[in-house]
Amino acid sequence: MSSVQRILGFESSCDETGVALVEVAGDAPPRLVAQALHSQISMHQAYGGVVPELASRDHVRRVLPLTREVLSQAGLALHDVELIAYTQGPGLAGALLVGAGVAVSLAAALGVPALPIHHLEGHLLSPFLSADPPEFPFVALLVSGGHTQLMRVDDVGSYEILGETIDDAAGEAFDKSAKLLGLPYPGGPHLARMAEFGNPEAFELPRPLLHSGKPDFSFAGLKTAVLTQVKKIGDSPCEQTKADLAASTQQAIVDVLVKKSLLALKETGLKRLVVAGGVGANAKLREQLNAACAKRGVRVHYPELSLCTDNGAMIAMAAALRVQRGMASPRQDGGFEVRARWDLSAA
Ligand code: KG4
Ligand code: ZN
Repeated sequence: MSSVQRILGFESSCDETGVALVEVAGDAPPRLVAQALHSQISMHQAYGGVVPELASRDHVRRVLPLTREVLSQAGLALHDVELIAYTQGPGLAGALLVGAGVAVSLAAALGVPALPIHHLEGHLLSPFLSADPPEFPFVALLVSGGHTQLMRVDDVGSYEILGETIDDAAGEAFDKSAKLLGLPYPGGPHLARMAEFGNPEAFELPRPLLHSGKPDFSFAGLKTAVLTQVKKIGDSPCEQTKADLAASTQQAIVDVLVKKSLLALKETGLKRLVVAGGVGANAKLREQLNAACAKRGVRVHYPELSLCTDNGAMIAMAAALRVQRGMASPRQDGGFEVRARWDLSAA
């Protein structure tokens, strides 16, 4: 098999519009040819969170210019594309509809198939875009703004959920705590920056379910504990006190993520861990996971830093890996649906 297949991928599930082109040639690792991304973060910042209607309208404005940019980077035209992939869910329904609608319309106009992709599968497989891709099977720690899950991954499409959060996601714990500290949306990276100058042991914060003996999570209580501390330190705490609280919050989240990842590795007996999703960009999490895994002979794989948060490349890559395995069931009838809620183990 030497023929090359070009896949154009669209991501629009939340507040990033992403478009990317990936090439598949036989069994060789798929190659990212070009990608373009527009983040709406600055637009939503004034509201302290994502405003779904504004998100949808901005996806409409960005998606075609980004597509032109990707094709021009690749030196290709639309008619060179043989498959169009798009995020079908989970995410904001209106935002998903924009990417899905454009993808399916383009596919119909070009006479090529359209392939729906699960957003979390995109995150999970994003380390395959790195220079050091993982081998199957592995344990995956998926830590995004809306999801916190540990999974056993035996191959593309074989996802067994070992444990997940019963309330807030790790990203939400970062974002909500950051908001309480007066930091802008999305708070995770801001809190992490502030934490660099703080003492992680200054405040005693809970590590919910740390000793449950199962790879499950709960972060809602942590946010309440941070709120209690914020009230205690008063309206105008000094910068050091804020940094100490940020560092203590980050440490509480990281402690739980590390301990539960080790538990999942022990339960499965696997020696490979893949970390994906926005929180996977957190330097403290990487440092402590790396140290804990090195001691146990476990290899840890991460996506490139810029591909931890939402992007089109991970959607095109997930499509490419499915195509290579003959697991893609694209539609060519111009029909589509989006799924605001969608369990990955059912994908
Ligand atoms: O995967 P993602 O881009 O979107 C979802 O699919 O949800 O993840 C976004 C989440 C946000 O909660 C954001 O605050 C968090 O990832 N995040 C971080 C960092 N970078 C992004 N959290 C902690 N430290 C970071 N460096
Ligand atoms: Zn995401």
